[in-house]
Amino acid sequence: MGVCHMMDLTSEILALKAERGAAILAHNYQRPEIQDVADVVADSLRMARRATELDAPLLVICGVHFMAETAAIANPGKRVLIPDPDAGCSLAATIEADDVRGWRTTHPDGLVVAYVNCSAAVKAEADYCCTSGNAVAVVRALPRDVPVLFVPDFFLGSHVRRVTGRALDVWMGECHVHAALGPADVEAKRREHPDAEFLVHPECGCVTSTMYYAAADGDVAAGRTHIVSTEEMTRRARTSPARRFVVATETGVLYRLRRENPDKEFYALAESAECRFMKQITLEKLRDSLRDLKHEVTVPPDVAGRARRAIDRMLAIG
Ligand code: 13P
Ligand code: SF4
Repeated sequence: MGVCHMMDLTSEILALKAERGAAILAHNYQRPEIQDVADVVADSLRMARRATELDAPLLVICGVHFMAETAAIANPGKRVLIPDPDAGCSLAATIEADDVRGWRTTHPDGLVVAYVNCSAAVKAEADYCCTSGNAVAVVRALPRDVPVLFVPDFFLGSHVRRVTGRALDVWMGECHVHAALGPADVEAKRREHPDAEFLVHPECGCVTSTMYYAAADGDVAAGRTHIVSTEEMTRRARTSPARRFVVATETGVLYRLRRENPDKEFYALAESAECRFMKQITLEKLRDSLRDLKHEVTVPPDVAGRARRAIDRMLAIG
């Protein structure tokens, strides 16, 4: 896209946004030009939280579908749009509400913890939601003597099982982008950047091996490996004394990391880690969304109410 066309679209979007009294919220993986035009750039949980704080009756969610649903659940009085309703998520697609109900029939006294990357219908079947940042704290807060099912991400669930020492049932779902980031990628980058700090999203296929390096006494990476959500990556990059970082997640987050820390260097664990669903949101689609008030995302009130209960229980834990 030419620079002039991009500037025209950006001006059009800003004018429509003002006219509609809208707020644009973008996930950290969005295209740079979408991040530039957004009021908020954040991880999935902070997008929903910020949406409730903003005094805007119309929210345009530049992210994937479950994020727009989460915004709708958290903001019952607001209208929520997504510029492309087909922006899905391979991880969220691995599980349906019936799968959770099936587990409950064999574990009637069990508790279900759902990572936010799932549909509203799955959240509604869960007892607690969690994010990649607080999954360990949520599981630690549960009573010890009940069976627990963790859905839908296998790598995050296994990480939580290891850290808490709890015998969780873990759903076998994975994100195709993060699962592809394996131990060989980490080995290669450790050789290339021996002094770098590693920022690793817990959905990654390499999360076990990075945990091992982080804990190994005397290893070069000991104390310099952080298994964190995308928002925590931005926080860590700001506060860390390190100059160089290897970032194991979708590459869209690098734009924000570099913009906020121009004096530091950021390297993708793998440049191929791109989520095609996130990249489906373009300036044209965002303009059309604001202009034609499409595509509205709604969640049936009973589903939203039950999903909100699971989210509120998570927030009560912290
Ligand atoms: P965050 O919750 O860190 O934003 O991650 C969301 C996501 O889609 C991970 O792939
Ligand atoms: Fe879903 Fe993976 Fe894309 Fe995140 S990166 S939105 S988990 S497919």
